[in-house]
Amino acid sequence: MPSPRPSTTRRLLGLTLAVSAALALPSAIASPFHQKRAPVLEPGGYYNPTSNGGKWLTLARNADGKGEPLNAVVVLDGGANDDLFDDWSLSINFGSYLLDSQGVGSYVGECLGQSDGARQAANLGDGQGMRNQTDILRENFGDVTYGTCRESAEGGEHFRVFPQVGPEADSGAYFLAASSEEPLSQNHMIVPNGYDLGRDEVVRRATVSGGTKSPVTNRTFETTATNASGPGYFANVSIDEINHGIATDGVVAVLNVKVTSDPVAAKSTSAGIRTLGSPSPLLVAQSASFALFALFALALLA
Ligand SMILES: *[C@@H]1O[C@H](CO)[C@@H](O)[C@H](O)[C@H]1NC(C)=O
Ligand SMILES: *[C@@H]1O[C@H](CO)[C@@H](O)[C@H](O)[C@H]1NC(C)=O
Ligand SMILES: *[C@@H]1O[C@H](CO)[C@@H](O)[C@H](O)[C@H]1NC(C)=O
Ligand SMILES: *[C@@H]1O[C@H](CO)[C@@H](O)[C@H](O)[C@H]1NC(C)=O
Repeated sequence: MPSPRPSTTRRLLGLTLAVSAALALPSAIASPFHQKRAPVLEPGGYYNPTSNGGKWLTLARNADGKGEPLNAVVVLDGGANDDLFDDWSLSINFGSYLLDSQGVGSYVGECLGQSDGARQAANLGDGQGMRNQTDILRENFGDVTYGTCRESAEGGEHFRVFPQVGPEADSGAYFLAASSEEPLSQNHMIVPNGYDLGRDEVVRRATVSGGTKSPVTNRTFETTATNASGPGYFANVSIDEINHGIATDGVVAVLNVKVTSDPVAAKSTSAGIRTLGSPSPLLVAQSASFALFALFALALLA
C-alpha cells in the first residue's frame, strides 16, 4: 500500500492532535466511566461481554431474573454463518435438518421445528443490549430428522445460541448456554452440575480426534478448544443468580472451528448443480406420519 504523501500525513496528524486536544479536557473532567474504550478482541476471536456492559449469564424470564451460564463460545473460521454453525452442530449431534414438502431442506434446532417457548435473552456487550436467543439446539442421538424429539421426551443435552453480531462488538462468534437436562417427566430440570456437564459434552464431541462430519453435507470440521476464565468472566455472577442455584466452575470453553473439507462447495462450484434438498417423497411422508404420531404422544402426555 503506498504511504500517504508527507503533507497529507502532517495534515492528518494536525487534525488528530486538534481533535484529541478538544476531547481530552472534557473527558478528563467528566467521570472516567463515561469514556468508551474500543472493545478488545480476545485471542479466541470474540469480545468479552463484560467489557461493554454485558454478562456471562442469560436471563430466563420465568425464573425471577435468574439465568444460565454462557459457558461456551464457538468461533467459525470466516465469521458468522448460521447455516455453517448449524451444520457444525449436526456434526456433533445437535439440532435437526428437515425437508419441506418441496424437498427444500432447512436446519432447525428442536423437535420438528417446534419451540418450547421459554426463550432466554443475553447481553453480549455488542451494543444490542438484551437479545433473545436465536435458537436452541437439542441432542439428536444421530438422527437428524426425529432425534431432537427424543431429547424433548427423554432429556439430555442442549444449548441456547446467542450470536455476537451487534455494532459495538461484531465478532460473529456464537455464545452458547449449554446444559444437561432431565426428562420431560421431571419437568426438564437441569441435572446437578448440569451446566458444566453440558459444556464438557459439547467440547468432548467437538474435539474428537480426526474431526467431525456433518451427516447432511459431509462437510468435515476441525475444532480446537481452549479455556477462558478469571477476571472479566464469572467474577460478577453469584450462584444465587444462576437458575436452579447450580454452581459453575466458571470456565468458558472457546471452540475454534475450521472447515477441513467441503464437498458441497466443491460440487456447486464445479457443476452449479443443486447438491442439497433434492426431494425425498419418502422422507416427507415419514415426516407427516411422525408429526401425527408426535401430536398423539403430546396429547397423551398433556
Ligand atoms: C423474546 O422472548 C420472549 C419470551 O419467549 C418473548 O415474549 C418476546 O416476545 C421475545 N422478544 C422478541 C423481540 O422476539
Ligand atoms: C455424503 O456421503 C455419503 C456416503 O459417501 C453419500 O451417499 C452422500 O450422497 C453424500 N452427501 C453429500 C451431500 O455429498
Ligand atoms: C478446561 O476446563 C475444564 C473444566 O474445568 C477442564 O476439565 C479441562 O481440563 C480444561 N482444559 C484445559 C486445556 O485446561
Ligand atoms: C465485578 O467484579 C469485580 C471483582 O469482584 C469488581 O471489582 C467489579 O466492580 C464488579 N463489577 C460489577 C459491574 O459489578
